[in-house]
Amino acid sequence: MRLNAYLARAGVASRRGADELIKAGRVRVNGEPGQLNTFVAAADRVEVDGREVAKQRLAYVLLNKPAGVVTTARDPQRRPTVVQLVPQEPRVVPVGRLDADTTGALLLTNDGPLAHRLAHPRYGVEKTYVADVEGDPDEDALRRLREGVELDDGVTAPARARRLARGRVELVLHEGRKHQVKRMLEAVGHPVRRLHRSAYAGLTVDGLEPGGWRVLERAEVDALRGAVNAP
Ligand code: URA
Repeated sequence: MRLNAYLARAGVASRRGADELIKAGRVRVNGEPGQLNTFVAAADRVEVDGREVAKQRLAYVLLNKPAGVVTTARDPQRRPTVVQLVPQEPRVVPVGRLDADTTGALLLTNDGPLAHRLAHPRYGVEKTYVADVEGDPDEDALRRLREGVELDDGVTAPARARRLARGRVELVLHEGRKHQVKRMLEAVGHPVRRLHRSAYAGLTVDGLEPGGWRVLERAEVDALRGAVNAP
């Protein structure tokens, strides 16, 4: 977040007051003079007049996102957002996105560096989706999903795909393109009727009602860090 917002949240000054402190050269970030446009993450060291500002507690929340809620911090159309469903202090934001009508596992955190890695294609975090589709995908459709489907932004990477029931498939992806699951299933002739993400990076929403959330255990956070080589 911006340096003035960080200082305001830490109770140092109002945003405007923080801007004055920054302009006066009284704020340093990791030893460097802070600027009005400096961005800080939870792990950065911020000092005012040489005294460290208390760090924000890092928080990691897993939400079972209900349908009809958008995965943004603020929605211009004023629809309900995922951020409103979880604890407000410290403020956490979603890692990646689910469509408004998609349900399931969504991680929210204020750990910027970890969130950045989890969302980065290089680390290929595993996401498991269960899709209810039109028709009943046959072995040929499943094979195409596994081997790669031609989409307008390129062929999809190898994925795992299996039929769970009539008209229901599970897809395990390491990519995260926009509307990817819906586009893949549409491309093999089975448009999605309902989409649920049952697991994200090994975290499942088992036991969480739609709209329910829980704070991650320490071991789960460590496993996430391990999955993306985060310090
Ligand atoms: N793929 C989609 O099509 N939608 C989502 O919300 C997530 C993955």
